Amino acid sequence: MTTQPPIANNVVWHHATVTRQRREQQNGHRGAIIWFTGLSGAGKSTLAHAVEEALHQRGCRTFVLDGDNVRHGLCKDLGFSREDRIENIRRIGEVAKLFMESGVIVLTAFISPFRADRERVRGMVGQGDFIEIYCDTPIEICEARDTKGLYEKARAGQIAEFTGISSPYETPEKPEIMVNTGKAELDACARQVIDEMVRYGVIANGQ
Ligand code: ADX
Repeated sequence: MTTQPPIANNVVWHHATVTRQRREQQNGHRGAIIWFTGLSGAGKSTLAHAVEEALHQRGCRTFVLDGDNVRHGLCKDLGFSREDRIENIRRIGEVAKLFMESGVIVLTAFISPFRADRERVRGMVGQGDFIEIYCDTPIEICEARDTKGLYEKARAGQIAEFTGISSPYETPEKPEIMVNTGKAELDACARQVIDEMVRYGVIANGQ
């Protein structure tokens, strides 16, 4: 259900007969939003794809929404001002919710630097539907990796409002999972996420 009335008038919600519950029954697992947050270069996308690979091999229906990719399409009109980032996360939240309702485990990899935006998405779905994973890699490590060369440009003043340098990152206060993507091996981090997903009942033990 939408929580706010639409701006357009005369728009009525249509209820599906193929419900989320029926889709989940068919899939053999719950739909859920697995929300990765952290600095650029923290390993969000790498970890999200590693988890997706493991889930896919277990027969789960999955999809990764990735910041860099989504900004080529759905959000290509948005930049990195505070307002644009808020709108970016709002759209991603809505899309992620649709995926979840279709029975899919959707893994999102966005910096999503503002706590209020992440909490808004959490509040749009039921308890246990939103699992926040904080990729806790210190900025020194992200900057040393600098896989896209963006930190160097940001330090040189060639990129404005760069997260961690000239734009804030608000660390999660109570993420469901915290992964040390700076130190731990990728496989170990992925296993940690999968174990928590079992604990939260998204997938069954041994699935
Ligand atoms: S978010 O802040 O709105 O959540 P998002 O995850 O979509 O950001 O996009 C982040 C990616 O855009 C980074 O991984 C990086 O490759 C690129 N990028 C380009 N400019 C910036 C910037 N000013 N701040 C952060 N990331 C940027």
